[in-house]
Amino acid sequence: MLSELNPYSPGSGLTPPHLVGRQDEIDAFDLLVARNRGGRHSRAIVLHGLRGVGKTVLLNQFRDQADRAEWLIVDLEGQASESGQEAVRRKLARELALAARRLYRGKGMTEKVKQALSTIRSFGISFGGASLEVGIEPAIGRADSGRIEVDFEELIEDLVPALKERDSAFGLFIDEMQDLEPELLTALLSAQHRAGQRGWPFFVIGAGLPNLPSTLSAARSYAERLFSYREIGALDEKSATDALVVPAKRQGAEYDVDAAELIVGASGGYPYYLQTYGQAAWELALDRRITKEDATAAIQRGNEELDMGFFPARWDRATPGERNYLAAMAEDAGNPSQTSELASRLKTKPQSLSPVRQSLIEKGIIYVPDRGLVAFTVPNMNDFVSRQLQD
Ligand SMILES: Nc1ncnc2c1ncn2[C@@H]1O[C@H](COP(=O)(O)OP(=O)(O)OP(=O)(O)O)[C@@H](O)[C@H]1O
Ligand SMILES: [Mg+2]
Repeated sequence: MLSELNPYSPGSGLTPPHLVGRQDEIDAFDLLVARNRGGRHSRAIVLHGLRGVGKTVLLNQFRDQADRAEWLIVDLEGQASESGQEAVRRKLARELALAARRLYRGKGMTEKVKQALSTIRSFGISFGGASLEVGIEPAIGRADSGRIEVDFEELIEDLVPALKERDSAFGLFIDEMQDLEPELLTALLSAQHRAGQRGWPFFVIGAGLPNLPSTLSAARSYAERLFSYREIGALDEKSATDALVVPAKRQGAEYDVDAAELIVGASGGYPYYLQTYGQAAWELALDRRITKEDATAAIQRGNEELDMGFFPARWDRATPGERNYLAAMAEDAGNPSQTSELASRLKTKPQSLSPVRQSLIEKGIIYVPDRGLVAFTVPNMNDFVSRQLQD
């Protein structure tokens, strides 16, 4: 069928044509927003899950909900590299100054807003952000010590009166949160902790890999109670079928029942795979009916595309030693691997594999589901690794 009408959206963070299976999370965030409007605090939300399940899409959805409620919004993305980490702080300071325009644009300047802006200004000077466009002097002795933990909390504290005056909140939306540098992470967690105690309208809304909850707990033990953690996973069969069938139907095309079943089964309910196969099915179908034959061909083409893009994005970043480790993991057919067992497969001591394991974790290719275990962050990565070894 015509490529230009192809409704599917395989890609990182691309809003799907039909967002399904996440209503509970969307409702939970709506409730948080509504409670905040009534002056009540809620636990902030952290999404965690494997690659390609739709965490970024959902985080963006939350962000839109917050935007409609006229929150101050800053988006950040954790960066594993050192230069990236500095850029994140700069971005925080700069974006906050821009977001803060919402406090006075069209609403006039109040004393509380002025106070908030001058603290934002001094925070901006400390962390290298741009200055505010309005003629506001930096607050002396507020958020200007150069120590992020102290300064960030003062910043939030000085924002609160203005936010409350507007029935608003400050939402910090952080994707790939597991990669946030430890110092900034700690600062954010302690500010969130204080916000809960004092009823400040400040919320860190995070998304990241399955190891994110344990990363947060390691940074601050109270992080466990700070957030409502939500695991984002594969879609159930009904939702997965809707995600596939509804976008086509809107363009006047139908899947045969067995065709849809085949694709949903092959995708394992993983959104990224559904979008990839759906896109291929649309391209391959000769008319507005997508048959089982089309579906079979679409899965094959989709897998070829995944083998060229989604999987190699991780594989190509692994060193030869790391690839051997991944190959040993692939023997467990998608189940978590015991690190001790991997050592014996690779005929070495577990300790000597720690650097390899650590490096693969830092690259976001594997994670630790439980003590002594490792698993792929990408669903079906084991099959890809096995295919590489056959070639
Ligand atoms: N609820 C959903 N229904 C249908 N498709 C979805 C849904 N959520 C996400 N998708 C699609 O799945 C793909 C992956 O989404 P997204 O980039 O948000 O995943 P992610 O979990 O952030 O992955 P990563 O860990 O690699 O960043 C996109 O192509 C998106 O359009
Ligand atoms: Mg993402």
